[in-house]
Amino acid sequence: MSNRMWGGRFATGPAAIMEEINASIGFDQKLWKQDIAGSRAHSAMLAARGIISAEDLEKIRAGLDEIAGEIEAGTFTFSRSLEDIHMNIEARLAEKIGPAAGRLHTARSRNDQVALDVKLWVRDTLDHLDGQFAELMMVMAEKALAHAAVVMPGFTHLQSAQPVTFGHHLLAHVEMWARDRARFRDARARLNECPLGAAALAGTSFPIDRAMTAASLGFDRPTANSMDSVADRDYALEALSAASIAAVHLSRLAEEIVIWTSAQFRFVKLSDAFTTGSSIMPQKRNPDAAELVRAKTGRIMGSLAALTMVMKGLPLTYQKDMQEDKEQIFDGLESLSLALAATTGMVRDLEPEVGTLKRAAGSGFSTATDLADWLVRRLGIPFREAHHVTGRIVGIAAAKNTTLDKVSLAEMRDVHAGITEEVFSVLSVSKSVASRVSYGGTAPKNVRAQAKRWISRLAREKSPA
Ligand code: ARG
Repeated sequence: MSNRMWGGRFATGPAAIMEEINASIGFDQKLWKQDIAGSRAHSAMLAARGIISAEDLEKIRAGLDEIAGEIEAGTFTFSRSLEDIHMNIEARLAEKIGPAAGRLHTARSRNDQVALDVKLWVRDTLDHLDGQFAELMMVMAEKALAHAAVVMPGFTHLQSAQPVTFGHHLLAHVEMWARDRARFRDARARLNECPLGAAALAGTSFPIDRAMTAASLGFDRPTANSMDSVADRDYALEALSAASIAAVHLSRLAEEIVIWTSAQFRFVKLSDAFTTGSSIMPQKRNPDAAELVRAKTGRIMGSLAALTMVMKGLPLTYQKDMQEDKEQIFDGLESLSLALAATTGMVRDLEPEVGTLKRAAGSGFSTATDLADWLVRRLGIPFREAHHVTGRIVGIAAAKNTTLDKVSLAEMRDVHAGITEEVFSVLSVSKSVASRVSYGGTAPKNVRAQAKRWISRLAREKSPA
């Protein structure tokens, strides 16, 4: 009798565990559309080159159409014993059309098949993300235009530094997203070479036409080295790198929203649509969506780290380790997509508390630089000395617990006799921001021009003239 403790299981145990660790169908069924698209392109090419007959091609096409219908309708049975999406579909095709199904895999291996499917999925997802970035940027630019003249404190070290406009602050994020979007576009351009036809790793002796399959799947050209084609996942690493940087940007805005909606700041309001209440503290409105966007960053960067680690020790070419690429790619890019959607919703929803922002903009002696600049401009004194004079006036205001524009002219003249009444024209927050007209500066008129530039650029992209 075999060991009673584990002997009964031993005969089947290892095989069952092998199936469990080996199968990827639980997650790679997401690739079914890409897999069928690849098989359509491949079989059409095989027929065009006389490698399979026109009748077999017809059967393969019809069978693939039916399978797509079944998967779409949710009636397809995915089987773990068939390991992955490629073999699940091929087995079903054999059930439907018999031996012709076996000819589909001529001059192809699961290695180039999976490389293609994953690449197509990443490409489709990058295209979707591109549209999401465009929408987010448009919503943000419109918000910026609407609030181009709303003043708020600009921060360095999270200390009030100089007044800025709310619109200017929002457009800073648009600039970052534009670069994120450009990084994804670069990645897309680089990935757009077709690995199909590399076969297992060495190419094939069949007279295939790789340019034909590449073109029919929307690629710029076929990949040039069959070993590289099946071994590499750098397009995925690049997409996840771009996603990580973009996630960092979304997280910084999310963090600002968390700060801005707090009772201590109250710079903006978010509606109930993007906040939740507390089950015990009735006064609370928690910015959960922003917090979760912030948290997704860890997850997205985790995907990049995990996949980089999977790849780093692999000799060429395909190794089974690479099956682990999919969950990281899916989770990383889908998390970014969700974070983008939630951010777009929050931005649309968000309204500035104009009065609070204005009061805050004037606190912390935020127009001190304007005073120093005035001293330089009007009295011709060196900036260093102006800085010193301003410091003393700030000291007076601080001692009286008031703002700079509330220090009397007499008190200012005690510090520097040349100061005149005119100085008060630069001490107000709105005068301060209106004066920042240098290119890229915060003056409302600049902000309006920049917001309009973004809006028309993004609109033009949507409907090119
Ligand atoms: N499920 C596999 C993967 O995701 C497909 C490729 C398998 N290739 C092989 N030679 N076993 O990577």
